[in-house]
Amino acid sequence: MTQRTELLEQLRTIVGAANVLTGGDLSPYEQDWRKREHGKSLAVVRPASTLEVAAVVKACATAGLSIVPQGGNTGMVVGSTPDASGTQIVLSLQRMNQVRTLDGANLTVTVDAGCVLQAIQETCERAGYLFPLSMASEGSCTIGGNLGTNAGGTQVVRYGNTRELCLGLEVVTPQGEIWNGLSGLRKDNTGYDLRHLLIGSEGTLGVITGAIMKLYPLPAAQLTAFAAVPSLEAAVQLLGLAHQHLSAGLTGFEVMGKFALSLVSKHFPQLRVPFQDGEEPAAAPGRPKQGTAPSGGSEAHEVGSVGAPYCVVLENSDQESEAHARSCFERLLEVAMEQGCVLDAVVAESISQARALWHIRESIPLAQAQEGLNIKHDISIAVSRIPEFVRLTDAQLQAAYPGARLVNYGHLGDGNLHYNVQAPAGADAEAFLRDDEKGVNTIVYDMVDRFNGSISAEHGVGSLKREKLAQHKSPVALDMMRAIKAALDPQNTMNPGRVLATT
Ligand code: FAD
Ligand code: MLT
Ligand code: ZN
Repeated sequence: MTQRTELLEQLRTIVGAANVLTGGDLSPYEQDWRKREHGKSLAVVRPASTLEVAAVVKACATAGLSIVPQGGNTGMVVGSTPDASGTQIVLSLQRMNQVRTLDGANLTVTVDAGCVLQAIQETCERAGYLFPLSMASEGSCTIGGNLGTNAGGTQVVRYGNTRELCLGLEVVTPQGEIWNGLSGLRKDNTGYDLRHLLIGSEGTLGVITGAIMKLYPLPAAQLTAFAAVPSLEAAVQLLGLAHQHLSAGLTGFEVMGKFALSLVSKHFPQLRVPFQDGEEPAAAPGRPKQGTAPSGGSEAHEVGSVGAPYCVVLENSDQESEAHARSCFERLLEVAMEQGCVLDAVVAESISQARALWHIRESIPLAQAQEGLNIKHDISIAVSRIPEFVRLTDAQLQAAYPGARLVNYGHLGDGNLHYNVQAPAGADAEAFLRDDEKGVNTIVYDMVDRFNGSISAEHGVGSLKREKLAQHKSPVALDMMRAIKAALDPQNTMNPGRVLATT
């Protein structure tokens, strides 16, 4: 028997033959969500417990074979799929999907790493608690993947990234040892914080098998508004007013450019997008008084004729009552209209209307994927400087790549834009990526540097941004990162070539 056949036999003994997949269509495990790369694994292994994960990792480490931890495989940076060598083991956590315990008094929930995010949200809600992490992939992504990438999502403005929601981890080390850090303490200053080292490490330092996460009381009311704004500057001004008027009640603030919304209308015509090309709101939600266009506003800023240049989804969560939430929200929108930073707005009258408005925002990534292969940027810049960043970068890109379509949307409340670039209409998207991705990235990331921003706000680095990280991160920081990787994974078997180049 060759060493690889021997290892596969060993893995079958650990997890059962049915959970070592070597044949058939393995694309769901080998192809990344954006279809940027299709790898080939030696096997997909699906353990059901932490002990099984530890045994699998130990066996692979002994055989010198590398492991790619995988959750829902919804990552955006090619970090959870194998390379093309046919020698890597995909370690899928999907069978480890139990909510272990919920401690109401401690406001914590302890979960298996393979729990699907939406399942955690729903279990907690049934028990009367809010688990606030939320993103459009929540029906498929897992908490292990969320922790592995330190995912952001749409509630960060109030609750922080996944990191801020995590109180402890259970981890299998690259050598196959188990570290149980599930104490659930809110205070623990006993040395280096290993939890924070593992969070955001994208499977390169160990396999997360369990986590203890923070809970919050369910809000008494949650209201959603969809507002048309005359410019990005106005969106930033609205954000300031929202912080002032709603304080901790502000739980979502997302911006969407006109072209991003037009892709939603094109690919999901059943979703009626308010304030674009004469469309009225999806289900006629409540409408605060009509706003007036700002003085000096050009025709392009008028709502309903050619569409607002930007729209914003805002969410207000209130611990008092729906009436209180509504009056705060309506006052905010009135002031914003008086100041000219909102042209028009609707407030959802029901949960289903709120969902419909959020659905428009959440459909942008899928609409963009359906439009074709594209160049994604997940950048963060100080909120106050975003309008200037977009103005300068738009101009440079349009000059260098005439006709390139800019798909701009994202978590403005966190200073995080998905500043994406789609090939010119009718052009061959594959050829555009092959010939122009490098140049487009150089323009965008050089500008990010000029603005002291980050080239990855929430999606991580994976293999797609590895070279860019090496160019844009400080050499001192890179040296410290390499030292940590070498100390914890000297054999380099844990998701090698992700985040850092293999040397
Ligand atoms: P995977 O894609 O399977 O893995 C991602 C990375 O984590 C890989 O490097 C993998 O090796 C590592 N990993 C996975 N599980 C483990 C584990 N148990 N232990 C150690 N490492 C592990 N991301 C955001 O941040 N914000 C958003 O708003 C957002 N919206 C999205 C919307 C759509 C429609 C889609 C398709 C994706 C979106 N994403 C978003 C990206 C993606 O959903 C997140 O990165 C998510 O956290 C990935 O979870 P996953 O379980 O799918 O992980
Ligand atoms: C989002 O905010 O929609 C996600 O991060 C996914 C994406 O950028 O496409
Ligand atoms: Zn995002």
